[in-house]
Amino acid sequence: VKLQRYADALPIPSVLHAPSDETQALEIEIRQTKQKVHRDLPPTTVWGYNGSWPGPTIEAHRDHPLKVNWVSKLPTTHLLPIDHSICGAEASMPAVRNVTHLHGACTLPEDDGYPEAWSTAHGEHGPTYRPGPATYPNCQPSTTLWYHDHSLGITRLNVYAGLSGFYLIRDEAEKALNLPQGEFEIPLMLQDRLFHRDGSLYYPKVVNGPKEHPVWVQELYGDMNCVNGMVMPFLEVEPRKYRFRIVNAANSRFYHLRLFNSDSTGKVLNQSYEVPSFQQIGTDGGLLPAPVELHYLLIGPAERFDIVVDFSGCEGKSFSLLNDAPAPYTMGGQYLAEDVMLFKVAKPLSGKDTSTVPDVLVPFEYLKPSFDTRERMLLVSEKERPSDGYVITGLLGNAQWHDPITEDPKAGSTEIWSFVNTTSDVHPLHIHLVQFQVLNRQSFDVKTYQQTGKIIFTGKPMAPESNERPARKDTIKSYPGYITRVIQRFDLPHGMYTPGQELIYVWHCHILEHEDNEMMRPYKVVV
Ligand code: C2O
Ligand code: CU
Repeated sequence: VKLQRYADALPIPSVLHAPSDETQALEIEIRQTKQKVHRDLPPTTVWGYNGSWPGPTIEAHRDHPLKVNWVSKLPTTHLLPIDHSICGAEASMPAVRNVTHLHGACTLPEDDGYPEAWSTAHGEHGPTYRPGPATYPNCQPSTTLWYHDHSLGITRLNVYAGLSGFYLIRDEAEKALNLPQGEFEIPLMLQDRLFHRDGSLYYPKVVNGPKEHPVWVQELYGDMNCVNGMVMPFLEVEPRKYRFRIVNAANSRFYHLRLFNSDSTGKVLNQSYEVPSFQQIGTDGGLLPAPVELHYLLIGPAERFDIVVDFSGCEGKSFSLLNDAPAPYTMGGQYLAEDVMLFKVAKPLSGKDTSTVPDVLVPFEYLKPSFDTRERMLLVSEKERPSDGYVITGLLGNAQWHDPITEDPKAGSTEIWSFVNTTSDVHPLHIHLVQFQVLNRQSFDVKTYQQTGKIIFTGKPMAPESNERPARKDTIKSYPGYITRVIQRFDLPHGMYTPGQELIYVWHCHILEHEDNEMMRPYKVVV
């Protein structure tokens, strides 16, 4: 369907504060519900944490553990088409399964939302399921995390149905900065979707050839962008500074965003006056040491951008936020979804803007490789898999989900992981448990590598982007034909594990269609 852009106001998810009694668990129910996503569409059936898409924004405090009980009340039939040829989604499995992962958090494995730790509303559960609430230690600096479903083989469908929400960690260092706060701090969850005329969610059900997965699609691109579960909304703002916490929670889409002058209906005007810039103040894993001024934002799936936009002096003006990233990124092009949202500086100033964006934000400690730092070369590939009949599947480390674990860092050790991307697309790679630092990217000869396994560099190592280093990241764009190097220390939440315990996490591509179909691997932290 074609829908009028900027017809509805941006919804802001409700906030759930961590209980002050740390032994008490927050209970969050996963429910099917109906929700308006656009003025001109009948309500849409979605799945939501506490019955809303996105779920409530959870606010926690650094070093104050929070327990959450994730309780499914979902029906037994799925809203969207399941592909039973996908690993973990076999017809023998319950169609509706859930497990929630807190993305970017440092947790113990049993609280990490392991893909096989799913359960159902009817008492069935996966092999690594453990009953009871998950404990989030919050032993990390203030940042923008997000939670979402992570069930093996159907993550893409569960997230598409609406299962995602924000989780903010706050601390004293953040508070001391006097950043815009309260109603001037707004989370923005970006997702693209397809809708039927009756308002229902549409997830394509392709009829594939005999050598392909019958239902699975390589990537999902919606023709309309939603922000906080509303199709192309508008937000009325005051002429002052706002802090926006942005997460790209789309299944596959990359966003390349710019602000444009427009009239109050969103029609873009010629650039006769300046648009405000983006001051990026934080990334996936925390605040930056200093703000970075940007004129566009390039956000891969699962990345978070914590930004400040100053609308002061812009009374009466409107700015549309437009996306021009090709899909697939970077070589595609046929699936544009341009309009994202509209900011209207239409509200009078309610009081003097006393918030600040200091030139120095928080200290940053560089992780430095030493002579004995282990480097792992990890292949990111697309491969024929004639053995089980299916044609193209993305793979990590040339292995599938059920193959033996190959990545086994020691607890507390520092390692460099070098992602060797031989595909033709950018893959947003995510490692659970850690926040890493980007070292560099270096081009290499893909053909030679594929034929001989030898790496012939075709360029010098390139410095990361200004907002990638120094920065704390858990998801990184791995570019085609490049080796992307990140460094991280595999620190566990302090004092909470027993020596000898098997500590199994995952790393994966965060294009959910890829993750669901073998672009995910378990890894083990050795205590
Ligand atoms: Cu956002 Cu393993 O996920
Ligand atoms: Cu991928």
